[in-house]
Amino acid sequence: MCGVVGFIGSENTAEILFNGLKTLEYRGYDSAGLALCQNNSFHILKAVGKLENLLREMQKNTSLDATMGIGHIRWATHGAPSLANAHPHISNDGKTVLVHNGIIENYKELKADLSAKGYRFSSDTDTEVAVVQIEDELKSAASFPQAVRQAMQKFRGAFAFLIMNKDNPQMLVAAKRNAPLLVGRGEKGMMAASDVPALAGHVSKFAYLDDDELALLSPQGMVFQNAQGSVFTKPLQVLSLSQEALSKNGFDHFMLKEINEQPAIVRSLLQRFLVQGKIVMPSFNLSAQEIENLTKIEIVACGTSLHAATVGKYVIEELADIPVEVEAASEYIYRKHPKNNNILLIGVSQSGETADTISAVKLAKQRGAHVLVLTNREDSSLVRFADSVLGLNAGLEISVAATKSYTAQLMMFYLLALYLTQERKTQQHDVLQKLQKNLMAVPVQMEEILADTKSVQRCAEKYAKAQDFIYVSRGVNVATALEGALKLKEISYINANAYPAGELKHGPIALLDEKMPVLSVLMPGSPNYDKLLSNSQEAKARHARLIAVTSARDKNLKSLFDDVLQVPEVPEILSPLTANIPLQLLAYFMANKLGRDVDKPRNLAKSVTVE
Ligand code: AGP
Repeated sequence: MCGVVGFIGSENTAEILFNGLKTLEYRGYDSAGLALCQNNSFHILKAVGKLENLLREMQKNTSLDATMGIGHIRWATHGAPSLANAHPHISNDGKTVLVHNGIIENYKELKADLSAKGYRFSSDTDTEVAVVQIEDELKSAASFPQAVRQAMQKFRGAFAFLIMNKDNPQMLVAAKRNAPLLVGRGEKGMMAASDVPALAGHVSKFAYLDDDELALLSPQGMVFQNAQGSVFTKPLQVLSLSQEALSKNGFDHFMLKEINEQPAIVRSLLQRFLVQGKIVMPSFNLSAQEIENLTKIEIVACGTSLHAATVGKYVIEELADIPVEVEAASEYIYRKHPKNNNILLIGVSQSGETADTISAVKLAKQRGAHVLVLTNREDSSLVRFADSVLGLNAGLEISVAATKSYTAQLMMFYLLALYLTQERKTQQHDVLQKLQKNLMAVPVQMEEILADTKSVQRCAEKYAKAQDFIYVSRGVNVATALEGALKLKEISYINANAYPAGELKHGPIALLDEKMPVLSVLMPGSPNYDKLLSNSQEAKARHARLIAVTSARDKNLKSLFDDVLQVPEVPEILSPLTANIPLQLLAYFMANKLGRDVDKPRNLAKSVTVE
């Protein structure tokens, strides 16, 4: 999604803004732009495509030496990626310039009113309407910030704005509602941005703006105003993002670095929640009695988080004996929910900024559900609607394709299921003890997989030319198949579909021939294993090329499957934690082999802040 960055101070503004935008690249974008204020005039540079194209524009303008500026990466929503639609947008009188992350939902009405007043528009964006609205408000407002506040009262939707006005060359206005925006103080000046990485290296202390707040940045400091214009103080926090978190640390891609971080993440979650043989969750604010009284759990999420939720459903139902419904957040919001008390609603989101998940959580809250949020960003918008929060603590995930956050979500669901089971006493003590012991072995087992990736690499080389892929499994690993197929689609652009294996014969089998690879995730120790073997035989009989991800040491597998990706033995219920790693690696190596932009796949955004 879009990202904004702004700077006012004594350093080379263009460079700071460009580097800031670089750190926001992970959000996904298709055009970029800067507005620099120098000697009281604006210089606007824009480019379609990657930031390197914007850099070329900057190199043509090397004489620019601004001390204030704003920058933007745009992920097209209203209008195609083009120079006209790229931000910054400028008012009709050329005096106000603005960048925006979010969507002004009522922009059509506002545009009609402004057009009737004689204003003209040169883009298809909602953002241009915002800057022209501020221009119009400036006619009646006593000050630039007041004009922004007046305009904000007319906007519906989400926005994080950075705004400059020629008549106020020492002021950069930051304002927001329903979209994240941070402001920070550094030695060389003040900065604002959509996310923490853009501030790193320039700012020592920062604060998150709350909805309908403004920050007025000057080279010397910042002043906070509320929606009424009253000035208030806001505590600043120390910016502690390490350079290591922002670097690839010797790996070729962030995705590969993040895949390799997974054992450590699992280990630290275990250390945090498993204390002397008991699961402790102090930030889960339901009493034992309330947990006992739960009649249903609903889980809402999108994409990869939805797949983690699917594992969560399986594990909670299996262990804690509570009915669980999992639903795509985008569907949850648009249907009727029968009245039901004693519901726990779990919202799962890596970023905590996914608009669909936020809307679903808000709806559930209105219905009176206790809202538990599982997120990797405890500073995110989603957390504001939570009654309880379980932080994933997976560290900043930069690759657009989620990997380590998925593993952290899975782990959190195992811990939560164990906690609910412990509180509801639905399993024997030794069952829980055994599962805890098995979970503690997982980090080392993950390390084993990561220590030797040659067989996955060979497999990737062999199948990289495939046009389509089918992933199948049964039981808890249907989610693994879904997530593996999503990963492959996202970063290699190969069409990959996942099914419960039993569904193959009800339609998808028609697709099978010698060109179609079918990947099965099959773990011994349950009836699923034998059933999956039969389903694989059926695929083989249609000449499909078969790949197995399995912990089985069965020699016969070699005669049925063309390739076998071996994982260590774990109880089937925990196998999504290990089986997923070869699938992440397979997608990674295939995408790499095809020369794809692994960390920044086309059309995708890291946090999807539109519904
Ligand atoms: C994951 O690889 C995807 N990029 C995407 O499906 C993602 O999981 C989805 O947009 C949800 O994001 P969230 O977890 O930040 O809410």
